[in-house]
Amino acid sequence: MTTMYDGGVPTTEAPRTPTPRSGSWSPGYPAAMPRDEFTGDLVCTALTPVTHDVLDVTFRPCDGGTLPFSPGQYFTFAFPQVGVDRCYSVTSTPSLGVDGVEEFTITVKKVPGGPVSTFLHEQFRVGDTVRADGPYGVFGSDVRPGAGALYLSAGSGITPFLSMMRARRALLATGERSLPLWSSVIHVHTAHTPADLVHREEVTGLSGRDETTFIPLCSQDSAAEAWTGVRGRLTSATLRVLVPDVADREVFVCGPTAYMEAVLAMLVELGVPEVRIHTESYVFGETVRVPTTDDGAGVGEATTASAAVFSVEFRGAGCMVQCPKGMTILEAAREAGIAHPSSCAEGVCGTCKATKVSGEVEMDHQGGIRPREVREGKILPCCSVPVSDVVME
Ligand code: FES
Repeated sequence: MTTMYDGGVPTTEAPRTPTPRSGSWSPGYPAAMPRDEFTGDLVCTALTPVTHDVLDVTFRPCDGGTLPFSPGQYFTFAFPQVGVDRCYSVTSTPSLGVDGVEEFTITVKKVPGGPVSTFLHEQFRVGDTVRADGPYGVFGSDVRPGAGALYLSAGSGITPFLSMMRARRALLATGERSLPLWSSVIHVHTAHTPADLVHREEVTGLSGRDETTFIPLCSQDSAAEAWTGVRGRLTSATLRVLVPDVADREVFVCGPTAYMEAVLAMLVELGVPEVRIHTESYVFGETVRVPTTDDGAGVGEATTASAAVFSVEFRGAGCMVQCPKGMTILEAAREAGIAHPSSCAEGVCGTCKATKVSGEVEMDHQGGIRPREVREGKILPCCSVPVSDVVME
């Protein structure tokens, strides 16, 4: 069964049969065939304003097939118009069965000076196409049935939780049990003003039933509304009051880097075990670590197996470089003068994916590569360090 997101009214009707742009690549799937991954072109079918600076962008595959993803996963999008790739969490409801969905939605906040968000808000139109690859990420997939979850988000960090909350609502509403469920979910979201609360009516409407609670915090009033809810930034004292059993819950955190760092310190202070804390960073180049009480490596910190220097051969380019301790394969490629594609440099987006012919690496990725691809010998050079001599394709 396929359940589609039903929130919002598209501002523009989409063409019923999108036409792939000339020369676009098709993965060759027969139309409407289920698949568990997608690489190809998507056509925009709707652009829906959500708040004063947030836009829902809905896509469907140009080849007419379905899109697989789980709540909390993201796709990497290529934007040749602005010369960069970006990852966006899917915010709509996933398929509750095995068939995937015919469309999905991402939710994009316009960031001042941000090339992709500005492009999507100001120039992207219904019928335009974009190349996408995914789904990636494991945020939200690790449900412990019977346990309680705590979602903590700020600003655009709400996006993966929109899909997770919508999936929960759909599962409870339909009685479908193909995906596991938390016994209860408390979602504490921090926004600047009430005007910045994304999909406020819908998300607030989920609260108070089905063991689901949504608690928005705002630090200021908006021009049109005096905020009467919980006011101020999240603190450990506030969190202790709002979620007395915080230490017993599985905790998921997504937001700006400063928020993530502050919240992770609070969670440690409140006694949440590190293994129960799950994070999703949406700011490239700013991986956040869960604080630890010792000097050991924390989340997101690359490690190397030895101090040895290994050779890395780039067979296609016909060159070889020596790779000292801690140097990634991507850095080695640059050392060799190879302009290898990359974007996040953190193992998130999958842009740098390449094939390893032989040798061993330690890869500290963050969901940007699929288990199948690893089995096939692919690696993410940006987060892989050699632990033997390595030959790349
Ligand atoms: S550059 Fe993003 S995964 Fe390597």
